Amino acid sequence: MAQITIRDIQKLKDKNTPFACVTAYDYISAQNADSVEIPLLLVGDSAAMVVYGMDSTIPITMDELLFLVKAVCRGTQKALVVADMPFMSYQPSVEDAVRNAGQFIKDGGASAIKLEGGIAYSNQIKSIVDAGIPVMGHVGLMPQSFNINSGYGIKGKTQLESQKIIDDALSVQDSGAFAIVLEGIPSNLAKKITELLDIPTIGIGAGPFCDGQIQVYHDLLGLYKTFSPKHAKCYIDLGLEIRSKLQEYKNEVEQKTFPASENFFVADIESE
Ligand code: KIV
Repeated sequence: MAQITIRDIQKLKDKNTPFACVTAYDYISAQNADSVEIPLLLVGDSAAMVVYGMDSTIPITMDELLFLVKAVCRGTQKALVVADMPFMSYQPSVEDAVRNAGQFIKDGGASAIKLEGGIAYSNQIKSIVDAGIPVMGHVGLMPQSFNINSGYGIKGKTQLESQKIIDDALSVQDSGAFAIVLEGIPSNLAKKITELLDIPTIGIGAGPFCDGQIQVYHDLLGLYKTFSPKHAKCYIDLGLEIRSKLQEYKNEVEQKTFPASENFFVADIESE
């Protein structure tokens, strides 16, 4: 099966074909998404919350994400796997950015990386791209800037703020990124940016006019109910299903109806 490349992702925009992307954090979630031919899987730093139970994306480390990137790559045959750069893995310097991006590609097996930020990170983006690593940008609501923004509010609601996001998006493109995530911005602003840019925009909480959409795996499947963002659609409450089936298993063990005869075997060990 041929692997999806960044050129294939660009073709989707060029042909005006909307596409779905999803996060993946382990072998099985990657296999599931890959089997329905989702073209891009992001090993998001949202793993901090949905995998590791942290309060935000701030504490997750390179090592904690690297394990997940390796597992996702093992479960993927076709999709483009993008590794999310955790907080402080690229902000301090261009050298840190290139070294850590390189680790996700070289040790992790990812094909691209994602980082949050616009104009302020143009040197990081350029240098990572110069090192031969495709970069996906991320502007608008940037969860790693949670502290400076005093929360996760929608961005780009004023003329000044929306112009800053447009400038950031243009800078991300000019720095060499192959695609850009637009998170938590008004849909009309996302439309404007999508029309302005040549590279694909991938929206989350940015309305229907982006070239692609991305969602968190656990939000789509009802696996993480601690926080349910307005933009997320829960297609099935798997958490409920899982709890009810675990309860059934527990009851059967306690009532001695599991294991049943089809679940075990007997050997002739007395006759020798
Ligand atoms: O970490 C994440 O899940 C993200 C989103 C774009 C989905 O960055």
